[in-house]
Amino acid sequence: MFIYFHEKTRTFHLQNEKISYIMCVLESGELAQLYFGKRIHDREDFGYLLEGAIRSHSAYPQDGNCGISPEHIKQEYPAFGNGDFRQGAIEILQKNGSRSCRFRYVSHRITAGKPKLSGLPAVYTEEDGEAQTLIVTLEDTVCGAELELLYTLFADEGIITRSARITNRGSEAFHVTRAMSLCLDLPDNEYDWIQFSGSWARERFPVTRKLDIGITQIESLRGHSSHQQNPFVILKRPNTDEVSGEAMGISFVYSGNFRISAQVDPYRVTRILTGINPTWFSWKLEEGESFQTPEAVLVYTDQGLNRLSQIYHRLYRERLTRGVWKNKERPILINNWEATYFDFNEEKLLKIASKAKECGVELFVLDDGWFGARRNDDAGLGDWVAAKELLPEGISGLSGKVEALGMKFGLWIEPEMVNPDSDLYREHPDWCLHVPERTPSLSRQQLVLDFSRPEVVDHIHGMIAKILRESKISYIKWDMNRSITDCYSVAKEPERQGEVYHRYILGVYDLYERLITEFPDILFESCAGGGGRFDAGMLYYAPQAWTSDDTDAMERVRIQYGTSYGYPVVSMGSHVSAVPNHQLGRITPLKTRAEVAYFGTFGYELDLNRLSEEEQEQVREYTEFMKKHRRLIQLGTFYRLQSPFEHNESAWMVVNEDRTEALVGFYRTLSQANIHFSRIRLQGLDPEKTYQINEEGCCYGDELMHAGLVVSDGTSGKTGEGILPPSDFFSRLFLLRAAEKDKPE
Ligand code: GLA
Repeated sequence: MFIYFHEKTRTFHLQNEKISYIMCVLESGELAQLYFGKRIHDREDFGYLLEGAIRSHSAYPQDGNCGISPEHIKQEYPAFGNGDFRQGAIEILQKNGSRSCRFRYVSHRITAGKPKLSGLPAVYTEEDGEAQTLIVTLEDTVCGAELELLYTLFADEGIITRSARITNRGSEAFHVTRAMSLCLDLPDNEYDWIQFSGSWARERFPVTRKLDIGITQIESLRGHSSHQQNPFVILKRPNTDEVSGEAMGISFVYSGNFRISAQVDPYRVTRILTGINPTWFSWKLEEGESFQTPEAVLVYTDQGLNRLSQIYHRLYRERLTRGVWKNKERPILINNWEATYFDFNEEKLLKIASKAKECGVELFVLDDGWFGARRNDDAGLGDWVAAKELLPEGISGLSGKVEALGMKFGLWIEPEMVNPDSDLYREHPDWCLHVPERTPSLSRQQLVLDFSRPEVVDHIHGMIAKILRESKISYIKWDMNRSITDCYSVAKEPERQGEVYHRYILGVYDLYERLITEFPDILFESCAGGGGRFDAGMLYYAPQAWTSDDTDAMERVRIQYGTSYGYPVVSMGSHVSAVPNHQLGRITPLKTRAEVAYFGTFGYELDLNRLSEEEQEQVREYTEFMKKHRRLIQLGTFYRLQSPFEHNESAWMVVNEDRTEALVGFYRTLSQANIHFSRIRLQGLDPEKTYQINEEGCCYGDELMHAGLVVSDGTSGKTGEGILPPSDFFSRLFLLRAAEKDKPE
């Protein structure tokens, strides 16, 4: 047992080797938060941590009890309107127009393992001993709402998952207008808040700011988690860096509208709230019905940011990703998008595939443009039938031919969308999200299908499943190329319109679940105009995601570096593309493009026929290299070493489990003349082992970690015979293997 309940003080202590999470039931019946952080001893009474002394001029005690004022205590799941003037976790609109509620403790239960969240993505356990779950039941007797707060503590790591379930036990329907997944009141605000922000083609750049009095908040109101903000935040102490110090992460396992906020009150208490964005959200609960919130994953460590990331990486690789692709090296693919865009036919595709096969590539992926009238992005979305003029024998014919070459076949779909110029739209104009009598906003000439309607999801499922049944398909790239506007479903009554955003994403999850159940061997890669839906929710269905539409190598160093804070290397789709790069026009060496793309799933996004013989030979070598080392890269322990956001030279590395092998990637954006010698201090090695570095020499692990790996080429910007000319966009890999002999020469 590692979840304790002390009867006398009604105190819960969730404790494992790493962390403690403590709360208690107040006399009034409400839940108060006492502590979250590094493991501390258990005791009967932690009441002194409540800090509930009455302050003059601003106390609003409850039930005539002058001992406690809601505004001045750390609460576990507060409602607004009862004297806590901070943002609340829950709000319920009742028949009489009131939004007041107060939840008081009724009972609790502690179970082994972790319950599933029906219809929602969530981390899971494989054996009961891996975790324990506490469910605290509270009620509001006036409106008849029951609230269950779910806490799962993992046995071996500083991980707690949280969610809430609201059930209508009363006799009148009500609307839940806010139901956060996590509320956490921390006793001070000495934190740097790190969010991962950007836009299309520059996703998840870390942005750091000090928490101060007031509200710091990120959110999405785009119907998907978005390029602009990611549902993941880190709070770190000011002195915390990659290798040491306290940090906590809040990761939201959800792909729709979200909000994560930190509100610092005048007494410097910090309230973290995470959940479905309350804007335009409301959910009607009839008698007996329940609403389950998505899950938030809270992680704490006192060992720095790399450790924090590694806890998420492992959890998401092993207890969020499901199916046959979990813990499995990913196929090296070639995707025709940047090679052809919409300009292709079967012959052209097979030429690209054959050359790729010759270069050792394992999977050919046909991107956009293969169906209906989709000869450009004006038409065809919704008509998931192969265009005969391009593919005379359809997808089944083409997939057979690709398999005959000795490669697997993959296909692009964008199932949530419809072009007005499509048969689907002409037949069902009301199947898209739109507000009656208003013209919906088109983006990329497309509208969003109303996935809150089961019949729409069924129809799309029918079309996609048919292709998958008829053809030899090993991989699906599931795209989503516009945000949601005009969020209204003509199939729902007015008072249920607040449900549409969330029902939409439940529809997406449902379609995924049906497809992965029927086709368990298919590898799904999610995509939303690149990295617009790169979130933990998606990883439950699709084990990898297209990280960004920006394939420029130097930009990818930054995008992949930023993404690595919350998500594992094996989840990041990363390809070598052509130069000049299609997004930036930049010309980077082929070697650099490969050495960046290695740190992800690896593949190509160009026509290899257009490369010179010499370059094709290089491609063969790169593909071979990745095949040899992908297990280490994709499933090893990843460390950020030097940030491309702060330095011209950056580095990262991966180490295998027994610390006998490691690979370091070093990147330099611009070359400079006559500069310093660079060393990078490595991490995660065995200090006692000696490592062979490429073919060049040997060093002890402790030398490499403390004195550092010498990464400059020794010329310091000189040019001349026998010296590598300095170049921009330079990269270098260092493969380290524990040497047989125990002493370096
Ligand atoms: C999105 C994706 C690209 C490509 C195009 C096709 O932008 O991110 O990779 O699939 O759509 O239209």
